[in-house]
Amino acid sequence: MTKKFILTENNMPDKWYNIQADMPNPLKPALHPGTKLPAGPEDFAPLFPMELIKQEVSKERWIQIPDPVRDAYLLWRPTPMIRALALEKALGTTAKIYYKYEGTSPTGSHKPNTAIPQAYYNKQEGVKKLATETGAGQWGSSLAFACQHFGLECTVFMVKVSFEQKPYRKNLMEIFKAKVIASPSTTTEAGKKILAQFPDTPGSLGIAISEAVEVAAKDGDTRYSLGSVLNHVLMHQTIIGLEAEKQFEMADDYPDILVGCFGGGSNFAGYTFPFLRHKIAGKKMRIIASEPAACPTLTRGKFAYDFGDTVGMTPLMPMHTLGRGFVPSSIHAGGLRYHGAAPLCSQLLQDKLIEAVAYKQKECFESALLFARTEGIVPAPEASHVIHAVIKEALKCKAAGEKKTIGFNLCGHGHFDMSAYDAYLSGKMQDYEMSDEELKKNLADLPPVPMPA
Ligand SMILES: Cc1ncc(COP(=O)(O)O)c(C=O)c1O
Repeated sequence: MTKKFILTENNMPDKWYNIQADMPNPLKPALHPGTKLPAGPEDFAPLFPMELIKQEVSKERWIQIPDPVRDAYLLWRPTPMIRALALEKALGTTAKIYYKYEGTSPTGSHKPNTAIPQAYYNKQEGVKKLATETGAGQWGSSLAFACQHFGLECTVFMVKVSFEQKPYRKNLMEIFKAKVIASPSTTTEAGKKILAQFPDTPGSLGIAISEAVEVAAKDGDTRYSLGSVLNHVLMHQTIIGLEAEKQFEMADDYPDILVGCFGGGSNFAGYTFPFLRHKIAGKKMRIIASEPAACPTLTRGKFAYDFGDTVGMTPLMPMHTLGRGFVPSSIHAGGLRYHGAAPLCSQLLQDKLIEAVAYKQKECFESALLFARTEGIVPAPEASHVIHAVIKEALKCKAAGEKKTIGFNLCGHGHFDMSAYDAYLSGKMQDYEMSDEELKKNLADLPPVPMPA
């Protein structure tokens, strides 16, 4: 039986897929934070290069990948699709399980798939420096790598709890010449404001975004770069699913169930959107997002207009949100600690084209260990959530005697996350679940902007 499905370099897709061309209900517009009117390109211009702003609102189905971006992708793409034969055997499942492995990138996750084009378009438009936030450090190290590749400077605000949990991620960013600052910091007004209110905060992605956006807004040579959530980011990631489509063809198989872990939505979308276009056209398939119970954006958040950052500097976005003031517990999957969800994924959830589940971190790590001990790859803590959801589905197939095909995106390896594995193995890891009171309190602060029908 074939274990790995490997595409040759000339089979790497040359276009990204834009799901905005096929959605049954189009996205509702982002709103200007002051006027609350639909935000136009000029509102985004201080933060992003024009080409990315165009991609953000484009309705074209296919967008050409520029040659320099393709050349950079070839450093690690196409990535393998692997049949999880040993995991299937350990579970005794009747299901077939395939995973796309994005941990082969230079920084160990899917994040360079968008870091490379973002750095490229900024460079093309004369930008000198990019500022960003990072949760787990995967995004920060990917943007640092991409900036180094195209000759840009890079400043990364790293969520304080991850800065402390993952010191080697900081070193990796520094190897690629980035400047790394623990967030909240005293280098920005946003950081100082949060620190004055909450001196012991572990930080959050929302706070780190406020700091990076402030730096970009104040400096004409600097633009902002986001590693998830936005439409163009999700589109760049579709190279994952487009490759997987070809690899399922090689395997002479097709997925009944597709699963991705969910932080802001980029790896989930990148893997599933190319298949979702067939579901929209009538093909039967379940598409599941797996998120942490400690940060249950899709499963318990409200579909509403909210800010993308904590301080309230970004446009208002139509998304599932836990409230911008929500600071998730210090779970080890730092990349899944975000209060909002990608508007594209939120709309698709509203339209019941995707579904969502939430799990606690200890059960996810238990599944991650089973995966490591069978398939040999130590998953990133974020990816432990997708593995847990897949194992649950595979066991349901076993109980029902069903021969379904399950595909999932193994979005990254966990080689820099040994403190998380140490906490699990030594019995020190704790579970967190958001209480109803906490949710109610955070949602009370939502901006009073009605969602159009
Ligand atoms: C390995 C990994 N997986 C998943 C995520 C979550 O982000 P997204 O939902 O955008 O894929 C992150 C974010 O940092 C990550 O580092």
